[in-house]
Amino acid sequence: MADRSHPSAKPAARTVLNLGNLPPKRQGFGANGLYPRTPSRVDPNNPPWPAYRGYHEYSFAHETMGKRLPTILGKAVDDVVKTLNEQYEEEKIVDLSQCIERMQQLMSDLNNNAKLRPIVDDGEGDIPLWNKEIAKFFRGKDFMNAPWLFAEAYKYRRLHECFSISKYWKDYDVFFRQKCDTFSRSGTAVFELSTRFAIPFSYEPNATEAEKLKARELVFHELTQVCLWGNATDLSLLINMTEEDIKNLQSTGGEHLAATEKNILGNHLNRMWKLVSSMKNGRIDFVLDNAGFELYCDCVYADWLVQAGIASEIHFHGKRFAWFVSDVTRKDWDWLLNSMVYGSLFPHGTDAELASLKQMGQRWKEYEKQGKWVYEQHPFWCTGYTFWSISTEAPDLFLHLAGSDLVLFKGDLNHRKLTYDCQAPSQTPFDIAIGPLASDDGAPPVASLRTIKSDVVVGVPQEVADRLDSEEPGWRISGKYAVVLLSDGLKGLPVKFDK
Ligand code: F6P
Ligand code: MG
Repeated sequence: MADRSHPSAKPAARTVLNLGNLPPKRQGFGANGLYPRTPSRVDPNNPPWPAYRGYHEYSFAHETMGKRLPTILGKAVDDVVKTLNEQYEEEKIVDLSQCIERMQQLMSDLNNNAKLRPIVDDGEGDIPLWNKEIAKFFRGKDFMNAPWLFAEAYKYRRLHECFSISKYWKDYDVFFRQKCDTFSRSGTAVFELSTRFAIPFSYEPNATEAEKLKARELVFHELTQVCLWGNATDLSLLINMTEEDIKNLQSTGGEHLAATEKNILGNHLNRMWKLVSSMKNGRIDFVLDNAGFELYCDCVYADWLVQAGIASEIHFHGKRFAWFVSDVTRKDWDWLLNSMVYGSLFPHGTDAELASLKQMGQRWKEYEKQGKWVYEQHPFWCTGYTFWSISTEAPDLFLHLAGSDLVLFKGDLNHRKLTYDCQAPSQTPFDIAIGPLASDDGAPPVASLRTIKSDVVVGVPQEVADRLDSEEPGWRISGKYAVVLLSDGLKGLPVKFDK
């Protein structure tokens, strides 16, 4: 009978074999050759390629988590203090002071690299999305070792929580002043566009159909670039912009565009035109990025798409609360259209310039009334999930987007979310990098218009990225370069969801 208590029953000490003559270990088993981690094993803490995390000193994640976010939060506190000083009712003052205390707690959590706690239930619809993700994937994780994308998004949700649990300040936007102020200092570029586009788009008299098509193609190329470079004015990076900085970023003249087209390192503009030129009264969606000048450029572009007969329905997708400093909220949307029509933001504008702005604003408001332009704000856009998860976490949104003829994602953050913000090789094709949003049945055509302002880069030849890495080490965050990338999707196939 075996005696378990006898010393001879103890497990053997660790055996070390010398395997020097066996074949070497090989890599890549089971991988489909496209991703190191197969899509079925991808989750928010384990992207298809390794994630960027705050403790990676070589990445922009490190600087953002360690320096930029505390600076942004400090400025946000200054904004609230300014508002506090304008109050006279005790209850509101006390309520707002408590918001500031919560912001200070958030600042301390950031500075001390606290663990990510669940979001306090403020009754908002996105709470289950946030807290489920934290519980499943980020238990015990902190600001620096969680993937950068999630940690940064979480910070903005925590900032929202500082107000959402208050009594009087639930919708307070700590960045609203900044957003309005920057737009009101953008007069030169604003009038450059309004004086060209206030009068409805028309063709040369007696133009043939072929000439009209050519005219549309030329305008499409230039306006798509106006829309693209409008993304350079993101306030989270340009906290102390001077008037001159703003002007430089916003030059929309033809010469400037020709010079900047060579900075589009992955350029599917021609493919996009092929798709767009085949549309008649279609539907185009903008997943918006920044308020103010970028939104204004988006609207000029959308206006032209309607007037050229390409689209008869445009959906604009904004954020439900203040997000990544300058992203568009409903309030920013209303503010832009109303200030174009009723505001006096540009005291130095000529009568003609001001009239052109007003005329364009009136047309845009009319589009809204007629239902040609629709502003929407699905809660999914303000979560930490990437767009690989739209169909699983927000199936209603996926179905809705599947009805579009083209979904344009604006900006850097949307690009990070499309590509899972991970260390994919730069030559990775865009439709591989965006995973299910390209390969799921029913996925609409998707384009990303992004000035490059953070580490992840796809759709760019490896040698180009390697050369820039060695010659211009700051190229991934400068906003000087851009990509315009398109995925054709699988529109028309019936959308299926896993049971
Ligand atoms: O904080 C970094 C970041 O999230 C980057 O994505 C980008 O540099 C910026 O903030 C946001 O840029 P955008 O407004 O173009 O999404
Ligand atoms: Mg933004």
